[in-house]
Amino acid sequence: MRGEGLGIEKLSVRFGGLLAVDEVTLSAPGGAITGLIGPNGAGKTTTFNACTGTVPVTSGSVSLFEHDLSHHGPASRAQSGLGRTFQRMELFDSMTVAENVALGPEAALAGRHLWSHLISPPRQRRDIAQRADDALAGCGLSHLGQHRVRDLSTGQRRLVELARALASGFRFLLLDEPSSGLDKIETERFAEIISGAVASGLGILLVEHDMALVRSVCEYVYVLDFGQLIFEGSMAEAQNSEVVRAAYLGSEAA
Ligand SMILES: Nc1ncnc2c1ncn2[C@@H]1O[C@H](COP(=O)(O)OP(=O)(O)O)[C@@H](O)[C@H]1O
Ligand SMILES: [Mg+2]
Repeated sequence: MRGEGLGIEKLSVRFGGLLAVDEVTLSAPGGAITGLIGPNGAGKTTTFNACTGTVPVTSGSVSLFEHDLSHHGPASRAQSGLGRTFQRMELFDSMTVAENVALGPEAALAGRHLWSHLISPPRQRRDIAQRADDALAGCGLSHLGQHRVRDLSTGQRRLVELARALASGFRFLLLDEPSSGLDKIETERFAEIISGAVASGLGILLVEHDMALVRSVCEYVYVLDFGQLIFEGSMAEAQNSEVVRAAYLGSEAA
């Protein structure tokens, strides 16, 4: 087991006769990007859904910075600092980039009742705008703030989604195939941005098919296959592992 951050302990998720996640134990620290890789259908997205509380867990526990989230609903987990992005992007096409990004901190602040009592709305609005501006700048999107999301390229949309997550003030992020649809240059830029984001202590668990991206940002990876963890270690070790190679047989990854 590694340092605290996101802790998953003997997590199982059953869908009828299918054990989609089978006693998975992993730990992903703050201040680093940890990889969660494996072939299609391995249970990666289901593991994320179990962490955020959007699928019922059969057994096991999930904790964030040593705080047990297992019995919390999705909203409470988000308020505890656990955020995510989706394999299929969830952006509002008719809204501007800046509006989409501001939805992140708006939702986060609305969820904390204390804030709405202590801070006047104008101050809160400025705080939201500031966070959105900072995230846009960090993701190289400042010049696109007033553009509608529907007019952007896939690569730009991926960055909007990341900016919204970063603006929300989460302590830990689950990123589900964030580079799909990005070209090589965009992926390299994406890697720089998420590497920079964890320097401040944010933790990331990254599900990703692009092995070059995983290799460039993850010091430690976990490999899932048919719901079970079959490997954990460095990316270099993973690529030399016979077990991992066998799981990926026929795919480009290992
Ligand atoms: N809501 C669901 N109901 C039934 N089966 C599901 C559901 N979600 C995922 N599965 C199944 O669970 C397995 C793992 O899926 P998933 O977690 O999406 O894999 P991955 O993200 O690694 O590709 C697959 O066999 C998938 O068909
Ligand atoms: Mg998936």
